[in-house]
Amino acid sequence: MSSDAVRKHSDMKDPFQTRYGPWALVAGASEGLGRAFAEGLAARGLHLVLIARRKKLLQSLTKELQTLYSIQVRTLALDLSNEDLIERLIAFTRDIEVGLVVYNAAFPNIGLFHRRSYEEHKKLVSINCLGPVALCYQFGKLMRQRGSGGIILMSSLTGFVGTPVLAHYAASKAYNRILAEGLWRELKPSGVAVLACCAGAVATPNFRKSIDDSVNISRIPVMRAEKVVRKTLRALGKKAVVVPGFLNKLHYFFIQRIISRKRAVSFLGRITERLYKTD
Ligand SMILES: NC(=O)c1ccc[n+]([C@@H]2O[C@H](COP(=O)([O-])OP(=O)(O)OC[C@H]3O[C@@H](n4cnc5c(N)ncnc54)[C@H](OP(=O)(O)O)[C@@H]3O)[C@@H](O)[C@H]2O)c1
Repeated sequence: MSSDAVRKHSDMKDPFQTRYGPWALVAGASEGLGRAFAEGLAARGLHLVLIARRKKLLQSLTKELQTLYSIQVRTLALDLSNEDLIERLIAFTRDIEVGLVVYNAAFPNIGLFHRRSYEEHKKLVSINCLGPVALCYQFGKLMRQRGSGGIILMSSLTGFVGTPVLAHYAASKAYNRILAEGLWRELKPSGVAVLACCAGAVATPNFRKSIDDSVNISRIPVMRAEKVVRKTLRALGKKAVVVPGFLNKLHYFFIQRIISRKRAVSFLGRITERLYKTD
């Protein structure tokens, strides 16, 4: 955490806190982008509900955040693919007002489509698609009733065009982008902001794990998680989709506007076949 981010929570509420507080829930908060979202929101004075499977990581993050900021933190060690996800979340947040939801977790399921088991494909749908729907449904409903709040869904640059080696993952990221876009317009009159973050490569432990051993990772243009979070939180309430980073915007422009869709798929395939583990 950077030293300038180390500041105590002030009693004065800023507009972000008023619109998206008092509590924010981060689904998939134990490391990488999820952890950076937790840090970014704590710095903005929001109390936090942090969810992930690894309890120890959540506990150490909680300790760190509570030393730096005067906020409350609740942690829930939970697999987001649980069938009773909504019921568990309702019970855990019954007595608090969740004004912001970040659905960050994803099951990457990277590799050639038929090398992954059908069970893994079903798990991807559950974590990457049903999970976001459950949170949008439950917390979006309460936000609508209150007339304020925000929802951030982590999509990806891969969610714009079909992508070999990441075929199902990319499809699930398109699902999140399209869901967010529709809800952005639908919930806007009720004062609820919805945003899809279509990030490019971000230096997270998950990203590093997915890269093929033959690739020199230092040569890949990756963004820092903190920067992605900063740009995403800044875009919330202003638009439906954010593509953080200049190079990512350029990439987006190239694959969406300059070359045909067919060429874009082949172009991306050439990159992903070299970059990612395919077994
Ligand atoms: N990294 C990139 O390059 C990149 C680029 C574009 C978009 N994105 C998107 O950004 C999001 C996060 O990126 P990331 O993949 O690099 O991951 P990350 O933020 O580094 O970590 C994923 C988080 O989700 C949690 N999680 C995963 N499966 C879970 C489950 N079944 N139940 C509960 N928690 C779960 C993990 O914690 P536990 O393991 O403790 O459960 C971890 O805290 C994803 O939606 C991804 O698609 C990433």
